[in-house]
Amino acid sequence: MNWELKLHLAAHPVAYPLVRAVGRIAPVVRVPRVGVVVSDAALAKEVLNDPAHFTKTGPGSPADLWTPVVGPTVLLNMEGAAHGELRRKLSGLFTPRSVSELCGAVLDAPLEELRNALRSGRPVDLVAVVRRLVGAVICGLVGLEASEAVAAHLAGTAITSEIRLGRRSLTPAQVLRCRQSLGVLTRPAARAWADGDPATVPGRMRQLGLTEEEALGAVAAFVLTGTETLVSYVPRLVALLHDFGWLDRLAADRSRVDDAVAEALRVTVPSPVMLRSVAADTRIGRVRVRAGDRVVIATISAATALGSFDPERPHPQEIRQLWFGAGPHFCLGMPLAQAEIHAVLGAVLDATPLSVVDRSAAQRVLIPSYSKLVVRSG
Ligand code: HEM
Repeated sequence: MNWELKLHLAAHPVAYPLVRAVGRIAPVVRVPRVGVVVSDAALAKEVLNDPAHFTKTGPGSPADLWTPVVGPTVLLNMEGAAHGELRRKLSGLFTPRSVSELCGAVLDAPLEELRNALRSGRPVDLVAVVRRLVGAVICGLVGLEASEAVAAHLAGTAITSEIRLGRRSLTPAQVLRCRQSLGVLTRPAARAWADGDPATVPGRMRQLGLTEEEALGAVAAFVLTGTETLVSYVPRLVALLHDFGWLDRLAADRSRVDDAVAEALRVTVPSPVMLRSVAADTRIGRVRVRAGDRVVIATISAATALGSFDPERPHPQEIRQLWFGAGPHFCLGMPLAQAEIHAVLGAVLDATPLSVVDRSAAQRVLIPSYSKLVVRSG
C-alpha cells in the first residue's frame, strides 16, 4: 500500500489530486480561484529568489492569512530590510552551538526513555512521542515550561487546521479562535519579555534588541513552523525506512543517514506548498503574471517528480533543499529541524530491528501526517 498517497488524500481529498493533475499539464498553469501553480523545481527556485517580483505580503500571500492572527512581525509575513534585520537578530538562536545545547538539554532524557521503551519490546506510538519531543524543544526555544509542550503543539495545529488551499483569508470567527489558541503561549512569553531575564529566551530577545511585538511574533513563528512540520516528517521518515527496507541498513551503516533524511524530505515535503503574491508584472517560465496574482508553488510536485523513495539517488541542484524553501525566507530553523530529526532517528535506529505494527492517516490536516504510527522492536 502507498502510505504517502494515503496521507495526502486523507489530508486534502480535493486539493491534492487537483494540484498533482495541474502539475502534469505544464510546469506553470493558471488555475481559476487557486492562482498560478508552479510545479517545476528550477522555476520554483527562481520565484523564491526574486523578492522584487514575488512577495509574502501582497494579496493572496501568507500575510493575508497570518497577520490578523499573529501580528505584523512574524518573518513569514515580512519582506525587505525589516525582514532581514529581524532574521539577523534571531539567527543566534540557531547556531550549531545553540541548537546542540537546546537539544541536549531538552531531548537527552526523553530519548533515553524512548530507547528503553523500544528495547523492552513495548509498542510505541511515534506520533505521540514526536509531538511531545518537538513541543518541548519549541517550549525550550521560546522560554516556556516543557509542560506546555502539548499546548504548544495544539496551538499550532488549531491555527493551521483553519487553512485550506482555496482560502485567501480567515473569517473573523477563525481569527478569534486562532488568537485564543496562540494566547496560551504568548501570554507567558510576554511576561518573560517584560521581566527581561536573559535566562529566558524572550528576555534574551529583548537584550538582542527585539521589541515586545517582535519577540512575541518570533514565538508565534516558531510554534507555527517548528512543530507540525516535524510531527509530520519524523514518523513518515521512519515509516518510509521501514517500508523500503532501510531501517536495518541504516542501523548498520550510519554514514548513510544524511542521504536517507534528505531523500525522505524530498518524498514527504512537510511544507507541500508555498505561497507568494506578484508584486510587479513579469513572467514565470512562459506564463505572464500580473501584480496581485497569487502564486502557488507546488513543492510537492516539484520535489516528487524525481521518483519514489531511494536514498541512493543523488539530488540535482535545482531540487536540493527545496523542501526548506530558497531565497530570503529559506527556513531559519533548518539547523534545529535537522538536529531534532537526527536525534530521534538515532534513538529509533538504536532499537532496530523494528516493525510498524499499527498506523493510521490524519484526516483533513494542513500537513499530511500519520495520526498514529506504532512501532515495536524485535
Ligand atoms: C522538517 C521540518 C521543516 C521544514 C520542512 C520546514 C520548511 C520551511 C519552509 C519551506 C520555509 C519557507 C516558506 C516560504 O518561503 O514560504 C520555512 C520557513 C521558516 N521556518 Fe521552517 N521548516 C521546518 C522546521 C522548522 C523548525 C524546527 C523551525 C524552528 C522553530 C522553523 C522555523 C522557520 C521559520 C522561522 C521560517 C520563516 C523564515 C522567514 O520567513 O524568513 N522551521 N520552513
